[in-house]
Amino acid sequence: MMERSLQWLLLLLLFAVGVLQSRAQPDSKGTYYINCGIPPKTRYVDNTTNISYDADDGFTDSGSNHNISASYMDSGHGRTYNVRAFPDGVRNCYTLRSLVAGSKYLIRATFMYGNYDGLSKLAVFDLHIGVNFWTTVNITDPSHQVTKEAIVVVPDEFVQVCLINTGAGTPFISGLDLRPLENRLYPQVNATQGLVQLARLNFGPTNGTIRFPSDPYDRMWDTWIDANDTRWNEISTRDLVQKEDNDPFDPPMAVMQTAIRPRNAADNIQMYWEPELETNGQTRGFIAIFYFSELESVPNNASRQFYINLNGVLWLPNFFEPRYLKADAVYATQTMEKNRWYNISIDATANSTLPPLINGGEVFFVISTANIGTNSEDASAMITIKTEYQVKNNWMGDPCIPKAYVWDRLTCTYSISDRARVTRSNLSAAGLSGDISSSFGNLKAIQYLDLSNNNLTGSIPDVLSQLSSMRVLDLTGNQLIGSIPSGLLKRVQDGSLDLRYGNNPNFCTNGNSCQPAKRKSKLAIYIAVPIVLVVVIVSVTTLLICMLRPKKQGSMEKSLNPQNETTRYVSTSGGYWDNSSLQLENRWFTYKELEKITNNFKQVLGRGGFGYVYHGILEDGTQVAVKLRSESSNQGAKEFLVEAQILTRIHHKNLVSMIGYCKDGVYMALVYEYMSKGTLQEHIAGENNNGGYLTWRERLKIALESAQGLEYLHKGCNPPVIYRDVKATNILLNTRLEAKIADFGLSKAFNNDTHVSTNALVGTLGYMDLEYHATMQPTTKSDVYSFGVVLLELVTGKRAILHNPNPVSIIKWVQQRLIQGNIEDVVDTHMHSDYDVNSVWKVTNIALQCIVQASTQRPTMTDMVMQIQECIELEDGHRAIRNAYNGFNTSDSTDPNSSYSTYVTDQSDVVDHHNAAFETEHILRTAPTLGTGPAAR
Ligand SMILES: *[C@@H]1O[C@H](CO)[C@@H](O)[C@H](O)[C@H]1NC(C)=O
Ligand SMILES: *[C@@H]1O[C@H](CO)[C@@H](O)[C@H](O)[C@H]1NC(C)=O
Ligand SMILES: *[C@@H]1O[C@H](CO)[C@@H](O)[C@H](O)[C@H]1NC(C)=O
Ligand SMILES: *[C@@H]1O[C@H](CO)[C@@H](O)[C@H](O)[C@H]1NC(C)=O
Ligand SMILES: *[C@@H]1O[C@H](CO)[C@@H](O)[C@H](O)[C@H]1NC(C)=O
Repeated sequence: MMERSLQWLLLLLLFAVGVLQSRAQPDSKGTYYINCGIPPKTRYVDNTTNISYDADDGFTDSGSNHNISASYMDSGHGRTYNVRAFPDGVRNCYTLRSLVAGSKYLIRATFMYGNYDGLSKLAVFDLHIGVNFWTTVNITDPSHQVTKEAIVVVPDEFVQVCLINTGAGTPFISGLDLRPLENRLYPQVNATQGLVQLARLNFGPTNGTIRFPSDPYDRMWDTWIDANDTRWNEISTRDLVQKEDNDPFDPPMAVMQTAIRPRNAADNIQMYWEPELETNGQTRGFIAIFYFSELESVPNNASRQFYINLNGVLWLPNFFEPRYLKADAVYATQTMEKNRWYNISIDATANSTLPPLINGGEVFFVISTANIGTNSEDASAMITIKTEYQVKNNWMGDPCIPKAYVWDRLTCTYSISDRARVTRSNLSAAGLSGDISSSFGNLKAIQYLDLSNNNLTGSIPDVLSQLSSMRVLDLTGNQLIGSIPSGLLKRVQDGSLDLRYGNNPNFCTNGNSCQPAKRKSKLAIYIAVPIVLVVVIVSVTTLLICMLRPKKQGSMEKSLNPQNETTRYVSTSGGYWDNSSLQLENRWFTYKELEKITNNFKQVLGRGGFGYVYHGILEDGTQVAVKLRSESSNQGAKEFLVEAQILTRIHHKNLVSMIGYCKDGVYMALVYEYMSKGTLQEHIAGENNNGGYLTWRERLKIALESAQGLEYLHKGCNPPVIYRDVKATNILLNTRLEAKIADFGLSKAFNNDTHVSTNALVGTLGYMDLEYHATMQPTTKSDVYSFGVVLLELVTGKRAILHNPNPVSIIKWVQQRLIQGNIEDVVDTHMHSDYDVNSVWKVTNIALQCIVQASTQRPTMTDMVMQIQECIELEDGHRAIRNAYNGFNTSDSTDPNSSYSTYVTDQSDVVDHHNAAFETEHILRTAPTLGTGPAAR
């Protein structure tokens, strides 16, 4: 019976003007004729076809070349005298580049064993096109040439043809061809389905195989007729057989100009093939195409009509009558019904006066090309990298697919919706030498790239900074020169990249001044800090770039009563929040969930202007802090929103981050991770840490981390965020005493780099910038000012406003004592003199720079980060000296801002304000004298 789902197409071609002419030369683009195993770089032109053949050295870098043994030379020809054999590795591939992604190609491989290895061992192995099975090569005769051909859509700008060792002998190959096909040809071939040639036959008299240039696509048409068989009449014509311009198969003229017909008019034409089982035990699907053209002029009273039967059943529903000198094809548009065998019989109709004829035929089996390889760009980059560094081991074929063959040292991620991506590459101690390949810059999804302990030279290419997913770049232990490119430096500074480059003796770590780095600890510490961020935080956030849209004016301002401000967020126990957890996807909580998490708001951690902060525990055991806006407080709603909006966008390891939020009816809450060690304020006051006090080294680290957090807000965010409320109670510490800035309720994203007018003064007494106070315009320098106050608190262990017994600002208190020139008078006695006095001086010094009245003279937070880093080095050097050395050399920085004179000011304006304490905090009339303190640099 007729298989209903099969569709048949009878091509009744219109009279077509013009004749297809064979091109004299194959298209050079995307055309490859490779003679495998000939000496590298050889190229020769075949006289009969005019095709150039190339050696295969540019297409594969594994395997070895062999000549076939002399006794088989007679059976071979130019193409088969040599082979490349692949005794090592499961998968060995040829990579053919410069293709057009999504286009159709004809791929052909030839094999002749010829006992090239002298072992007389016939091999069976598989071929893959990219990540899809193509066919099995079964060598049964050493003198027999096996040819495999496929027509496929190539998904990328390159294709890999791989020989797979299936354990039945060493794969080898004699030749590999690839030619572009027009996309209209072979409509059965699409992105997910390819055709593998079983037979391609030319019927009738020929001088042998028809191929290029007779077939412009260089298909090889074998002759079917047996000259001794007396059953057939060969017929041919020299007249042109016309075909339509867009014929889907473009059979060559030479094929259509010849045909066979049974001698005996009553006979029919029979052909059959039996399907082999596929490796998975399934039978294959087939596609058959038959070509017909009437070559004899049929008298009016005669006719040639025939049926085409498949296994005794009409295949084409009606009879077919070939047209005189017109090319027609009868073909399956879809995979034919699966059968145990396929008997084709072409039978004349009862009315036909002439026997049937046939000009040509093709039979293919269908392969799936639905497996998709690694992301094209990733794969291409990895293949280039492999070639550039001559990496051997199993780096063959597709980097990620199939999973069983993933390249060593690579980690890929797989998803249903996207092609596999290369996300980690550990090339540590992989013997790489030469420059860092710019192809690394094409691994757009890479998160972790370890190139340490190789012999890489040259400078770091800036293209690496465009790898926005990259969290760790390890270049330690190479021979790199130059300095960190600005793009990467920025990534490092905004905390989004952990860059490691120690032990590169000639690499300069120092920005502009390019000398060999003597002190490798310098940036190493600074850079080492973001590692945690890199791994812990950013890897789960997709949006790292701090992007804040400027708020409409007035959306976040609030009139504040300064007296109230000083009482915001008084912690009563434990501490608040931490962001060291991985659960950063902002989660939406209902009020009911909050009740459950907080055990009905049982434990209060602290109280602020918006309401209380409660301790909570998530389902997975993560401790959190829940900041619940009290129902009565409508003043806090805007700040709440501001904080939520900012926190959803910024992620830095020194900024507290939000786990989720709640907006459930009147209830609003922000959920942070629990910050177990409480506020910096409590530690300075010795109210936490079991009454213990922070060491100077711990204080320096906290200063650095807070500075980094602020620097990120100022520099890493676009537009910058002015925090506006820097103070010791807003700096929280986790169990590891890592500092994070909390409470973004007052923060202001500002548009241009200068000023933002606000209608209210915000901030906290004792920390507030005079200039801001005068101008009502907060700037990043107002944050710098407040940060200077925090630094003084760290040095002195005093609060921003001392009660002595009258209120006096810490600034004034410090300045008054420094006039005496004795740093010991201001340093917190709880540190028991366990500090490097240079480092304390330097911190005091930079703190005073922060609080000069003219904001333009204050350092930026970036300067602060660098300077505190230097203080840490001084302190660490001090410890090292105590342990070992003499003659420690201090920093080579020549920052002009560090001169004492810059914070001398004669400004004596007093901002009129109703709070008396306020007046005392900001008047800076006297410069400390340099004389008695040790030189800070
Ligand atoms: C193959 O034979 C040629 C001489 O015909 C010789 O020069 C060449 O070295 C041989 N190649 C190999 C791989 O044995
Ligand atoms: C290879 O071909 C031979 C001869 O046709 C056959 O006996 C053998 O089973 C084939 N091997 C494989 C693995 O297909
Ligand atoms: C197909 O052809 C083979 C070989 O001629 C024959 O043995 C078989 O019976 C035929 N099957 C059908 C269904 O005609
Ligand atoms: C055979 O020819 C006769 C007369 O021309 C016509 O009526 C009949 O339909 C034809 N049969 C077939 C099968 O084409
Ligand atoms: C990277 O590879 C090196 C050497 O093979 C190995 O010592 C190191 O542990 C690897 N690192 C990671 C993170 O896998």
